[in-house]
Amino acid sequence: MKIGIIGTGSIARTVAPTLAAMERADTFAVASRTKEKAEDFCREFGFRQAYGSYEEMLDSGEVELAYIASPHSHHLEHMLMCIERGVPVLCEKAFTINSPQAKKAVKAARDRGVFVAEAIWTRYMPSRSLVDSMLGSGVIGQPRALSANLCYPVSHRERVREPALAGGALLDVGIYGLNFMLMCFGWDIDRIESSVQMLPTGVDGMENITVYYSDGRLAQITGGITCRSDRRGVIWGEEGYITVDNINNPSAVSAWDTDDRLIRRAEVPVQISGYEYEFDECVKAVEEGKTQCASMPLAETVRVMELMDSIRAPWGLVYPGE
Ligand SMILES: NC(=O)c1ccc[n+]([C@@H]2O[C@H](COP(=O)([O-])OP(=O)(O)OC[C@H]3O[C@@H](n4cnc5c(N)ncnc54)[C@H](OP(=O)(O)O)[C@@H]3O)[C@@H](O)[C@H]2O)c1
Repeated sequence: MKIGIIGTGSIARTVAPTLAAMERADTFAVASRTKEKAEDFCREFGFRQAYGSYEEMLDSGEVELAYIASPHSHHLEHMLMCIERGVPVLCEKAFTINSPQAKKAVKAARDRGVFVAEAIWTRYMPSRSLVDSMLGSGVIGQPRALSANLCYPVSHRERVREPALAGGALLDVGIYGLNFMLMCFGWDIDRIESSVQMLPTGVDGMENITVYYSDGRLAQITGGITCRSDRRGVIWGEEGYITVDNINNPSAVSAWDTDDRLIRRAEVPVQISGYEYEFDECVKAVEEGKTQCASMPLAETVRVMELMDSIRAPWGLVYPGE
């Protein structure tokens, strides 16, 4: 399937070699606001067509799946650009800056019957079923709590520190901890408390989010853009605990007993980078005429955006234009 990338930034450059190594993906086109950047990208990663504007690439009628790799602040605009032209789209996380924008994109896609999916790669990975089956096996007894952290020292980057680009820890990295929690514990949430350290630029630099579940379970999520954390996810049960090494791209899932003895370990299958799974599922879904992905349905994407809206509301974090 012919893939066309929107934007030539960091994640586009990370994903490009994975696309080149995939059987089902044709590294077809890239569009940049600057033609020279698109041409350089084509030369470096073996794409065939370089476009000096996003519209021009989408108007070519050749792209079969557009991958949006622009800042959060521009996802809605770029999704609508694709949807209006009937081009299926995989949009980077966070899907939009807030839930009203997410609903607008989903409505436009439904009205037009166009495929749309959120590129939250952990939802599409095989590690998800490894965690599910370890939890479901009862090896740690009843799960009672979990913790997950993801922090990278990236606050020097414009996209991450600027409110105008909808920067900040929550939309950039906190979203992974929340998705980890939702995949493990689901949605039966009673209430949420959080604390935040804001950056001088006006975005959230670091947060702790405590989620109280109706049945007594508790989740503690940490996200940050000013330091490097161990990226661990841990699910605590009555008879032991499960650890997930790197919730951002899990490498192994292990179960430990109450004496800290390893009792089970599952390695994830050999992968190109981990980005192949979201593209594989999208390509298959588009080929089958579907309008969304089973691993991350659009209703779930909207719910996650609503959750993040509600978490940042007490912080007074409002993005320009909201
Ligand atoms: N899944 C993951 O593991 C992962 C990792 C990192 C980032 N992401 C997500 O990917 C998206 C992009 O992040 P990134 O780190 O790649 O950002 P980045 O390095 O800043 O690149 C963003 C690109 O978007 C384009 N763009 C369009 N309008 C722009 C504007 N007004 N200001 C700046 N750039 C603009 C630019 O490409 P042109 O100049 O070529 O038009 C730019 O290079 C975000 O949604 C982020 O959350 C995902």
